Amino acid sequence: MEISYHGHSTVRVKTNEHTILIDPFITGNKLSDLDPETVEADFILLTHGHNDHVGDTVAIAKRTGAMVVALNELAVYLGRQGIETHPMNIGGAFEFEFGTVKFTHAFHGSSYEEEDGTFVYTGMPGGILLTIDGKTIYHVGDTGLFSDLKMIGEMNDIDLAFVPIGDNFTMGPEDALIAADWIGAERVVPVHYNTFPVIEQDPDAFAEKVRTGKGIAMKVGETIEL
Ligand code: NI
Ligand code: MN
Repeated sequence: MEISYHGHSTVRVKTNEHTILIDPFITGNKLSDLDPETVEADFILLTHGHNDHVGDTVAIAKRTGAMVVALNELAVYLGRQGIETHPMNIGGAFEFEFGTVKFTHAFHGSSYEEEDGTFVYTGMPGGILLTIDGKTIYHVGDTGLFSDLKMIGEMNDIDLAFVPIGDNFTMGPEDALIAADWIGAERVVPVHYNTFPVIEQDPDAFAEKVRTGKGIAMKVGETIEL
Protein backbone atom coordinates (compact mmCIF):
# COMPACT_ATOMS: atom_id res chain seq x y z
CA MET A 1 0.00 0.00 0.00
CA GLU A 2 1.00 3.63 -0.49
CA ILE A 3 0.84 6.11 2.36
CA SER A 4 1.09 9.83 1.68
CA TYR A 5 1.19 12.92 3.89
CA HIS A 6 -0.80 16.05 3.06
CA GLY A 7 0.02 18.58 5.76
CA HIS A 8 -1.25 18.99 9.33
CA SER A 9 -2.59 15.55 10.33
CA THR A 10 -3.88 14.48 6.94
CA VAL A 11 -2.75 11.06 5.77
CA ARG A 12 -3.91 9.08 2.75
CA VAL A 13 -3.63 5.31 2.54
CA LYS A 14 -4.06 3.73 -0.88
CA THR A 15 -4.42 -0.01 -1.15
CA ASN A 16 -5.03 -1.88 -4.41
CA GLU A 17 -8.75 -1.46 -3.93
CA HIS A 18 -9.42 1.40 -1.53
CA THR A 19 -8.47 4.97 -0.74
CA ILE A 20 -8.64 5.88 2.93
CA LEU A 21 -8.29 9.46 4.12
CA ILE A 22 -7.45 10.27 7.73
CA ASP A 23 -8.36 13.73 9.07
CA PRO A 24 -8.82 15.47 5.68
CA PHE A 25 -8.27 19.10 6.63
CA ILE A 26 -7.87 20.77 3.23
CA THR A 27 -9.87 24.02 3.06
CA GLY A 28 -8.11 26.55 5.28
CA ASN A 29 -4.99 24.39 5.54
CA LYS A 30 -2.23 26.37 3.90
CA LEU A 31 -0.02 23.27 3.79
CA SER A 32 -2.44 21.00 1.97
CA ASP A 33 -1.75 19.91 -1.60
CA LEU A 34 -5.14 18.21 -2.04
CA ASP A 35 -8.13 19.59 -3.93
CA PRO A 36 -11.27 19.04 -1.86
CA GLU A 37 -13.36 19.00 -5.04
CA THR A 38 -11.50 16.15 -6.70
CA VAL A 39 -9.84 14.14 -3.93
CA GLU A 40 -10.97 10.52 -3.93
CA ALA A 41 -11.99 8.51 -0.92
CA ASP A 42 -13.77 5.27 -0.13
CA PHE A 43 -13.42 5.71 3.62
CA ILE A 44 -12.63 8.68 5.85
CA LEU A 45 -11.29 8.02 9.33
CA LEU A 46 -11.42 10.77 11.94
CA THR A 47 -9.41 10.97 15.15
CA HIS A 48 -11.65 13.63 16.76
CA GLY A 49 -14.12 16.42 16.09
CA HIS A 50 -11.91 19.51 15.93
CA ASN A 51 -12.33 21.48 12.72
CA ASP A 52 -8.66 21.04 11.78
CA HIS A 53 -9.32 17.28 11.63
CA VAL A 54 -12.92 16.95 10.39
CA GLY A 55 -11.99 19.52 7.73
CA ASP A 56 -13.68 18.78 4.40
CA THR A 57 -15.09 15.43 5.49
CA VAL A 58 -18.79 16.16 4.88
CA ALA A 59 -18.27 17.62 1.39
CA ILE A 60 -15.92 14.80 0.35
CA ALA A 61 -18.25 12.13 1.73
CA LYS A 62 -21.25 13.65 -0.05
CA ARG A 63 -19.43 13.80 -3.37
CA THR A 64 -17.68 10.43 -3.22
CA GLY A 65 -20.06 8.39 -1.08
CA ALA A 66 -17.18 7.60 1.26
CA MET A 67 -18.10 6.08 4.62
CA VAL A 68 -16.94 8.07 7.63
CA VAL A 69 -15.54 6.09 10.57
CA ALA A 70 -15.38 8.05 13.82
CA LEU A 71 -15.99 7.86 17.53
CA ASN A 72 -19.66 7.59 18.40
CA GLU A 73 -20.79 11.17 19.12
CA LEU A 74 -18.87 12.59 16.17
CA ALA A 75 -20.18 9.87 13.84
CA VAL A 76 -23.77 10.48 14.92
CA TYR A 77 -23.37 14.26 14.50
CA LEU A 78 -21.88 13.90 11.01
CA GLY A 79 -24.41 11.22 10.05
CA ARG A 80 -27.20 13.75 10.55
CA GLN A 81 -25.68 15.76 7.71
CA GLY A 82 -26.62 13.06 5.25
CA ILE A 83 -23.46 11.00 4.97
CA GLU A 84 -22.83 7.34 5.71
CA THR A 85 -21.06 6.80 9.02
CA HIS A 86 -19.79 3.95 11.15
CA PRO A 87 -19.66 4.83 14.86
CA MET A 88 -17.04 3.20 17.08
CA ASN A 89 -15.59 3.87 20.49
CA ILE A 90 -12.31 3.69 22.42
CA GLY A 91 -10.82 0.21 22.64
CA GLY A 92 -13.13 -1.27 20.05
CA ALA A 93 -11.96 -2.78 16.79
CA PHE A 94 -13.92 -3.50 13.62
CA GLU A 95 -12.94 -5.29 10.45
CA PHE A 96 -13.85 -3.23 7.41
CA GLU A 97 -13.40 -4.41 3.82
CA PHE A 98 -10.06 -2.54 3.65
CA GLY A 99 -8.69 -3.68 7.01
CA THR A 100 -9.17 -3.32 10.74
CA VAL A 101 -9.67 -0.08 12.66
CA LYS A 102 -9.18 0.10 16.42
CA PHE A 103 -9.54 3.33 18.36
CA THR A 104 -7.13 4.18 21.16
CA HIS A 105 -7.61 6.94 23.69
CA ALA A 106 -5.94 10.34 23.45
CA PHE A 107 -5.65 13.18 25.95
CA HIS A 108 -7.18 16.15 24.18
CA GLY A 109 -10.62 17.69 23.49
CA SER A 110 -13.21 16.86 20.88
CA SER A 111 -15.75 19.39 19.67
CA TYR A 112 -16.87 20.83 16.36
CA GLU A 113 -17.35 24.56 15.91
CA GLU A 114 -20.19 25.29 13.52
CA GLU A 115 -20.17 28.31 11.19
CA ASP A 116 -22.26 30.40 13.61
CA GLY A 117 -19.80 29.71 16.43
CA THR A 118 -21.87 27.04 18.17
CA PHE A 119 -19.73 24.37 19.79
CA VAL A 120 -20.97 20.83 19.42
CA TYR A 121 -19.26 18.43 21.79
CA THR A 122 -18.28 15.30 19.96
CA GLY A 123 -17.30 12.82 22.65
CA MET A 124 -13.83 11.51 23.32
CA PRO A 125 -10.81 12.21 21.13
CA GLY A 126 -8.88 9.18 19.93
CA GLY A 127 -6.04 7.69 18.00
CA ILE A 128 -6.38 5.14 15.22
CA LEU A 129 -4.70 1.78 14.82
CA LEU A 130 -5.15 0.75 11.21
CA THR A 131 -4.14 -2.76 10.20
CA ILE A 132 -4.09 -3.60 6.51
CA ASP A 133 -2.52 -6.72 4.98
CA GLY A 134 -0.61 -7.49 8.17
CA LYS A 135 0.87 -3.98 8.51
CA THR A 136 -0.16 -1.64 11.31
CA ILE A 137 -0.26 2.13 11.10
CA TYR A 138 -0.83 4.13 14.29
CA HIS A 139 -2.17 7.64 13.80
CA VAL A 140 -1.80 8.95 17.34
CA GLY A 141 -4.25 11.83 16.77
CA ASP A 142 -3.99 14.98 18.85
CA THR A 143 -2.75 14.20 22.34
CA GLY A 144 -0.35 15.02 25.08
CA LEU A 145 2.12 12.38 26.19
CA PHE A 146 0.52 9.56 28.18
CA SER A 147 2.11 6.42 29.55
CA ASP A 148 -0.39 4.02 27.95
CA LEU A 149 1.42 4.67 24.70
CA LYS A 150 3.90 2.18 26.12
CA MET A 151 1.14 -0.41 26.50
CA ILE A 152 -0.15 0.33 23.00
CA GLY A 153 3.41 -0.15 21.70
CA GLU A 154 3.77 -3.44 23.57
CA MET A 155 0.42 -4.78 22.42
CA ASN A 156 0.85 -3.90 18.76
CA ASP A 157 3.59 -4.48 16.22
CA ILE A 158 3.51 -1.01 14.70
CA ASP A 159 5.14 -0.45 11.32
CA LEU A 160 4.45 3.24 10.92
CA ALA A 161 3.40 5.89 13.46
CA PHE A 162 2.18 9.44 12.87
CA VAL A 163 3.02 11.48 15.96
CA PRO A 164 2.10 15.13 16.64
CA ILE A 165 5.05 17.42 17.40
CA GLY A 166 3.52 20.91 17.20
CA ASP A 167 3.39 21.64 20.94
CA ASN A 168 0.80 24.07 22.38
CA PHE A 169 -2.25 21.95 21.38
CA THR A 170 -0.52 18.55 21.47
CA MET A 171 2.76 17.12 22.67
CA GLY A 172 5.85 18.94 21.49
CA PRO A 173 9.01 17.42 19.98
CA GLU A 174 10.60 16.35 23.28
CA ASP A 175 7.54 14.51 24.48
CA ALA A 176 6.99 13.12 21.00
CA LEU A 177 10.46 11.53 21.13
CA ILE A 178 9.44 9.76 24.33
CA ALA A 179 6.17 8.74 22.66
CA ALA A 180 8.14 7.34 19.71
CA ASP A 181 10.27 5.25 22.10
CA TRP A 182 7.18 3.88 23.79
CA ILE A 183 5.25 3.19 20.59
CA GLY A 184 8.28 1.40 19.14
CA ALA A 185 7.27 1.82 15.49
CA GLU A 186 9.66 0.94 12.71
CA ARG A 187 9.06 4.34 11.11
CA VAL A 188 7.94 7.54 12.83
CA VAL A 189 6.50 10.50 10.95
CA PRO A 190 5.90 13.88 12.65
CA VAL A 191 2.55 15.60 12.03
CA HIS A 192 0.51 18.56 13.33
CA TYR A 193 3.15 21.28 12.90
CA ASN A 194 3.71 24.50 10.91
CA THR A 195 0.03 24.91 10.02
CA PHE A 196 -0.40 27.78 12.48
CA PRO A 197 2.21 30.12 14.04
CA VAL A 198 1.89 28.56 17.52
CA ILE A 199 2.81 25.09 16.25
CA GLU A 200 5.91 25.93 14.25
CA GLN A 201 8.52 23.19 14.57
CA ASP A 202 11.48 21.72 12.71
CA PRO A 203 10.35 18.26 11.54
CA ASP A 204 13.82 17.33 10.23
CA ALA A 205 15.41 18.04 13.62
CA PHE A 206 12.76 15.84 15.23
CA ALA A 207 13.20 13.04 12.70
CA GLU A 208 16.98 12.99 13.26
CA LYS A 209 16.52 12.58 17.00
CA VAL A 210 14.12 9.63 16.81
CA ARG A 211 15.93 6.85 18.68
CA THR A 212 13.49 3.99 18.38
CA GLY A 213 12.71 3.36 14.74
CA LYS A 214 13.52 5.59 11.82
CA GLY A 215 12.28 9.18 11.88
CA ILE A 216 10.98 10.43 8.55
CA ALA A 217 9.94 14.06 8.06
CA MET A 218 7.60 13.45 5.13
CA LYS A 219 7.17 16.36 2.74
CA VAL A 220 3.65 17.35 1.77
CA GLY A 221 2.64 15.03 -1.07
CA GLU A 222 5.41 12.53 -0.30
CA THR A 223 4.53 8.85 -0.46
CA ILE A 224 6.04 5.88 1.32
CA GLU A 225 5.46 2.26 0.53
CA LEU A 226 4.44 -0.13 3.29
NI1 NI B 1 -7.51 18.76 18.07
MN1 MN C 1 -5.56 19.48 15.84
